Amino acid sequence: MTFPKPSPPAYSAVQIWLHWGIALLIGSQFVLNGPIGKAWRALSRGQGGDISSTVLLHVYVGIGVLVLVLWRLALRVRRGVPDAPESETRAMQMAGHLGHLGLYGLMIFVPISGMMAWYGGIGLAANIHQTATTFVIVLVGLHVAAALYHHFWLKDGLLFRMKMRKTR
Ligand code: HEM
Ligand code: HEM
Repeated sequence: MTFPKPSPPAYSAVQIWLHWGIALLIGSQFVLNGPIGKAWRALSRGQGGDISSTVLLHVYVGIGVLVLVLWRLALRVRRGVPDAPESETRAMQMAGHLGHLGLYGLMIFVPISGMMAWYGGIGLAANIHQTATTFVIVLVGLHVAAALYHHFWLKDGLLFRMKMRKTR
């Protein structure tokens, strides 16, 4: 038995708000990581460490990202997402799907590895968390490059699929 794959004509307003909200929160995690790095190193040495509000912000914003991504994935399954644009070759569609899959994977894996380090005191998880954030930079860089390629080279209006709007 096959299940029909939902493919609405456009992303919903909630899907678009989630995309940009999560992007903003992830960006802020790269700005707000200095103090947690310091606190983590102090805790690893057995010292108390300074658990300032900036440290806690990294923790709670990161957990917030995880919750929002799960919401976004639930919407993706229930409502679906628009088909890949027709301007793309099969290879580009595959690359796009793989890139999005990688981004979703990282948006789940990065906060979970951070939680395993912070709440479980697992040093290896902290190292993995650090390394995974490098992959975030690389994949997001490719993702943005692809979006700009669509916008300026293919001129297929793909970027407008993620344009913020108030209604559905
Ligand atoms: C999407 C969510 C997150 C992103 C993008 C993110 C990003 C980062 C970045 C860029 C660093 C600095 C890495 C470096 O020094 O090179 C870092 C460090 C750290 N983060 Fe996160 N983080 C996220 C979620 C979390 C969560 C939820 C926790 C804990 C509950 C956490 C705990 C830590 C810890 C303990 C460190 C220090 C690790 C070390 O220095 O080895 N992070 N994070
Ligand atoms: C300036 C930054 C960004 C731009 C210009 C951008 C642009 C876009 C566009 C135009 C789409 C729709 C693609 C399509 O309809 O096929 C999209 C989808 C997506 N973006 Fe971004 N994005 C940005 C940042 C991010 C960040 C930081 C993340 C997460 C780390 C992210 C994750 C995703 C994912 C997972 C999708 C696929 C949505 C789905 O179909 O389920 N994006 N992005």
